[in-house]
Amino acid sequence: MTNATISIDGKAGEYPVQSGSAGPDVVDIRKLYANTGHFTFDPGFTSTASCESKITYIDGDQGILLHRGYPIEQLAEQSSFLEVAYLLLNGELPSKTEHDEFKYLITRHTMVHEQLATFYRGFRRDAHPMAVMCGVVGALSAFYHDSTDIHDPQQRVIACHRLIAKMPTIAAMAYKYSVGQPFLYPDNSLSYTGNFLRMTFGVPAEPYIINPVVEDALDKIFILHADHEQNASTSTVRLAGSSGANPFACIAAGIACLWGPAHGGANEAALNMLREIGRPERIPEFIARAKNKDDPFRLMGFGHRVYKNYDPRAKVLGAAATKVLDTLGISDPVLDTARELERIALSDDYFIEKKLYPNVDFYSGIILSAIGFPTSMFTALFALARTTGWIAQWTEMMEDNDQRIGRPRQLYTGYPRRDYVPIDQRS
Ligand code: ACO
Repeated sequence: MTNATISIDGKAGEYPVQSGSAGPDVVDIRKLYANTGHFTFDPGFTSTASCESKITYIDGDQGILLHRGYPIEQLAEQSSFLEVAYLLLNGELPSKTEHDEFKYLITRHTMVHEQLATFYRGFRRDAHPMAVMCGVVGALSAFYHDSTDIHDPQQRVIACHRLIAKMPTIAAMAYKYSVGQPFLYPDNSLSYTGNFLRMTFGVPAEPYIINPVVEDALDKIFILHADHEQNASTSTVRLAGSSGANPFACIAAGIACLWGPAHGGANEAALNMLREIGRPERIPEFIARAKNKDDPFRLMGFGHRVYKNYDPRAKVLGAAATKVLDTLGISDPVLDTARELERIALSDDYFIEKKLYPNVDFYSGIILSAIGFPTSMFTALFALARTTGWIAQWTEMMEDNDQRIGRPRQLYTGYPRRDYVPIDQRS
């Protein structure tokens, strides 16, 4: 192992440099404060590894995303969402028997407590599905007391299964509530994604016929959103979990973080932007706005903290968008606008210099809209899929003996100590 020397005020100290199996080495500065009395300053964690993990690896410069070593393109083309969920949680692809057992276990947990339906009725009908999801998922801890003891490995596993199984039911119920239709119970004879489609778009009055192209495209979207290393919402789940909070509460925290337009809310924002652009002739106007420092407008679905190359998930979804729209016989000018925007942006010096490429959100909204989801549901679908990654990362953290409560420090720039002034003596 090599060491890095950090010298402050002429006093040098040695800090071990650790190597992972891929990616940059890290300087272990855990003893820096004790040795020197200094903190490091890294708002936004641009140079800070917050944990050790074996789940997901991203090479942002090359545009590579691996889950447990497997490239995302191979998983999206050849695997299924449930299999990827097993992989993320357990570290290996399942054998046939393990796969069947896992499917059975997840399927057994798809229903939610009947009283949860009453819980929905407390929300306004026009509530954003993410507001409903934050509340309902957080409330799961009030319903499933027998899987909230985080120190019991068996209870942790059951909580993972419950969350993966119930998220489609919860998201579909959020949708049904917003359109005033009755909730549908899960149908365990269907695939994970087929069941979700039926609970969302089916009605009790008639059978729901699943379109296999739609089922496959949505399953791909779920796979592509399943995990993404230590992003903002995953770090939120880990930070919440580091205090010993129960997994349902932690996932609710993750959902809250995901909601923001700079993170999971970007797919909704990207489609809204494409609709606002409306037609390819208006693209230059929006490109000019994105480049104008005085205009807060950004090209939504473009740019990424880690990818400084094409987001591999966007590549898969760009192709899937064409397939779904062709199959459904939809000719959406938004897809033409998206393709043209991508072409123009990728040849523009501003975007080239700043290495801004389409991210996963650029095309996903077009597919989800073609399937029939309102834009307000997009982030809820992202949360449904990402729950798998969140819960796998939470489990990994719980099993890590080095795990401590997450407690960043700060560079304080406020007033130094001063004395209280009674109100009648203040100017
Ligand atoms: N349009 C125009 N300019 C952009 C964009 C964009 N979409 N994204 C970044 N830039 C510019 C910034 O203005 C900045 O320019 P400067 O150096 O001249 O100040 C530079 O590129 C770097 O941008 P930062 O905001 O510092 O990069 P950061 O890594 O913090 O942000 C983020 C990444 C939030 C994703 C950003 O690219 C963005 O806002 N994109 C649009 C929202 C989006 O699509 N989010 C989805 C992310 S993927 C996900 O969460 C699943």
